[in-house]
Amino acid sequence: MEFNVKSGHPEKQRTACIVVGICEPRRLTPIAAHIDKLSEGFISNIVRKGDIEGKLGQTLLLHHVPGLLADRILLIGCGKEKDFDEKQYIDVVKKSVKALNQTGAMEAVSYLSELNIKGKDIYWKIKTAIQVISETGYQFDKYKSSKSKFRRPLSRLTFCVQTRKELTYAEKAIHIGQALSKGIELTKNLGNTPPNYCTPKYLTEVAKSLAKEFSSLSAAILNEKEIKNLKMGAFLAVAQGADSSPYLISLSYKGTKKDSKPIVLVGKGITFDTGGNSLKPAANMIGMKYDMCGAATVFGVIRAIAQMELPINVIGVVPTCENMISGKATRPDDVVTSMSGKTVEILNTDAEGRLILADALTYVERFNPDCVIDIATLTGACVVALGKHATAVYSNHDALANELLQAGQMANDKGWHMPLWDEYHEQLKSNVADIANIGGPEAGSVTAACFLATFTKSFNWAHLDVAGTATVYTGPSRGATGRPVALLTEFLIERSNKK
Ligand code: BES
Ligand code: MN
Ligand code: ZN
Repeated sequence: MEFNVKSGHPEKQRTACIVVGICEPRRLTPIAAHIDKLSEGFISNIVRKGDIEGKLGQTLLLHHVPGLLADRILLIGCGKEKDFDEKQYIDVVKKSVKALNQTGAMEAVSYLSELNIKGKDIYWKIKTAIQVISETGYQFDKYKSSKSKFRRPLSRLTFCVQTRKELTYAEKAIHIGQALSKGIELTKNLGNTPPNYCTPKYLTEVAKSLAKEFSSLSAAILNEKEIKNLKMGAFLAVAQGADSSPYLISLSYKGTKKDSKPIVLVGKGITFDTGGNSLKPAANMIGMKYDMCGAATVFGVIRAIAQMELPINVIGVVPTCENMISGKATRPDDVVTSMSGKTVEILNTDAEGRLILADALTYVERFNPDCVIDIATLTGACVVALGKHATAVYSNHDALANELLQAGQMANDKGWHMPLWDEYHEQLKSNVADIANIGGPEAGSVTAACFLATFTKSFNWAHLDVAGTATVYTGPSRGATGRPVALLTEFLIERSNKK
């Protein structure tokens, strides 16, 4: 899909379709009113006859509107003007592309970016529209033999802005929106790829191919032997039950020559989680291909910022393996020594994410990071606590947590601050090792975060538990959501603006 911006009146647009809003009840938006005047009441006449009320998402396609060079006008209901906010805007954009795909128009000029939303400027409106349009068109059909396609899909959309002054800013929004969308798409594709294809080895190839595509990226991959040399006993304990080999992937983005400290992103890359010897019940095992969505997020974010060419340094680190069951698999009660030297009593082999992350978090100390953010589908308890609406945000540094929460608000990809109090740490006491890998039935997402916190003492760190947000488990659009790529990318954009 190609996106453009221009400024200009609707009567000047020689296009297959012009998109304009109508508010409820039967109120013309300024652009609709402008067209109405040109066409000597054509629009208001139709509206008066009751063909469109302006209800949110309602559409009406008109041909041969007098006074226009455009072949068609798509009127789209925006609901009541006083209720028009981010969410309604997103709904209207979604509905308009769906409607356009059903028409013969393959390109269109949209005036929806001129609608007023409190606190949101043209940059936000265009960037968000691109993201929404890309997501609306997303299909994961690689493994389907017949693919459903529109006969005449929308392939070029031009956003109109009110003044020429806004053009540069609007063009930037296109650049950022497209890069973000590509990142989100990558994350979704990786998450959705079946686990017999998306193996640890496959993820190493993804990193290598990204490094090939962008000269600002470089990939380094450590194999099992090198992981052993690093004494990553916790990571290896998870990997040892599988026939596939584990890898530790680093994907570095250098966007500034300055030796500014890197921001490190660490993503959980369990390509399938059976639970190991603490085997999951069959119904709970379905969907455990998504247990690498943290890793997929790291790749998606890095792809996005590489295309944006943000002036910032970021390193993505992904420990990846399968959590399988076999004669070689770790037992509950085993004690292992992590890279940090801390011993861990593994009381449940299904609490594997924190084990691989513990070693990866120790490993990243060597980068002397500005801050470290890990992303993981870590606990079922997080899904119980926050559902699919918010990512759980934990941090040992309140300012960092606040930056992430703010970025989530901006990007329409919300997080919610969770506690890491000492009281919760108590639950991880072990009587044979330094720490146990589970904290009992209460506050499971919090105790998992507390476990990670013991390995992140030497830097500013945040942990995003995305078990609820990275995937939708039910309904027609079930699959990877691409969250929290938008949140993290927004955070990095903000960081790069500050420096
Ligand atoms: N990958 C799961 C967490 C998960 C569960 C993600 C459901 C998405 C949906 C994780 O490895 C896990 O199994 N966690 C256990 C921890 C428990 C044994 C302390 C859980 O949540 O049950
Ligand atoms: Mn597990
Ligand atoms: Zn897991």
